[in-house]
Amino acid sequence: MRTRFTEAFGVEHPIVQGGMMWVGRAELVAAVAESGALGFLTALTQPTPEDLVKEIARTRELTDKPFGVNLTILPSITPPPYAEYRQAIIESGIKIVETAGSNPVDHLPHLKDAGVKVVHKCTSVRHALKAERVGVDAVSIDGFECAGHPGEDDVPGLVLIPAATRQLQIPVIASGGIADARGLVAALALGADGINMGTRFMCTVESPVAHAVKEQIVANTERDTRLIFRTLHNTARVAANSISAEVVEIESRGAEFGDIAHLVAGARGRKVFEDGDLEAGIWTAGQSQGLIDDIPTVAELVDRMVTEAESIIEDRLRGFVGQGVRA
Ligand SMILES: Cc1cc2nc3c(=O)[nH]c(=O)nc-3n(C[C@H](O)[C@H](O)[C@H](O)COP(=O)(O)O)c2cc1C
Repeated sequence: MRTRFTEAFGVEHPIVQGGMMWVGRAELVAAVAESGALGFLTALTQPTPEDLVKEIARTRELTDKPFGVNLTILPSITPPPYAEYRQAIIESGIKIVETAGSNPVDHLPHLKDAGVKVVHKCTSVRHALKAERVGVDAVSIDGFECAGHPGEDDVPGLVLIPAATRQLQIPVIASGGIADARGLVAALALGADGINMGTRFMCTVESPVAHAVKEQIVANTERDTRLIFRTLHNTARVAANSISAEVVEIESRGAEFGDIAHLVAGARGRKVFEDGDLEAGIWTAGQSQGLIDDIPTVAELVDRMVTEAESIIEDRLRGFVGQGVRA
């Protein structure tokens, strides 16, 4: 399957594994690269820029195929040293970066000067157009279904992706709610040049989260997410559990961040992934949980998606326009 995205980014398949806090580590990203898809290490999962340099080196020991690094730039009271992480990425010779969280304009000149291609992930057409104007090479657009931060517009992918692709000139990667070949083919039909998945890649053998988390994703349905931080205009879609329920409940009483900070602390979420204690804190997952029934290796997942996508196009879709009508 060749698209503008596979051509421009030098990958075999139009499939991306987006940055994931605590999950986007060497083992997963190398497995994604080996499968012919494009994986992103998550810069801020590493405590310091020096640790990121080591993680990049560790990934290179596991694969010689291309991979990238996600740099998520979120508003914060004490921001991480973004410029230093960016420098670590550049000096490590990384050639593909996924930016997310806010406008990448401050980082772009540095990345471009170093010959880095940038995929900017955003959640609205207007932000995608702005990113195109400032010179990113592709945009990844998250629909409301997605895990993590869906923005505040609540527009699902079925509308958001074609609304974007009909206005943008650069390659578009559809993200959010995609977990199988049907989602891949649908995204291409909506005008996208590729897809991005988070939750689906988190539920693979190589994903470095506790097995209990993967089993819970398999058990969960499309209804098992909660939207937290709505009242703070910084919405996040996370897995349903007692903690996310408590956050939503406190928010409904008009709370401030200080009232929920102890529940949503990053260290607690990390404990879920490391110890498999599903009620230890908030953990990110999307509605695509309802489409996930197994824990395959990354290679099995990507092979299956590509093979099934080809057969959906060749058999099912061609059948609708050819001689016979097929179900
Ligand atoms: C556990 C987890 C952590 C995530 N952390 C980040 C992050 O740090 N930065 C980012 O840009 N996106 C993050 N995301 C979002 C994913 O990159 C991707 O955009 C999203 O998962 C797509 O929706 P899907 O889960 O329905 O495939 C995270 C997603 C998950 C599941």
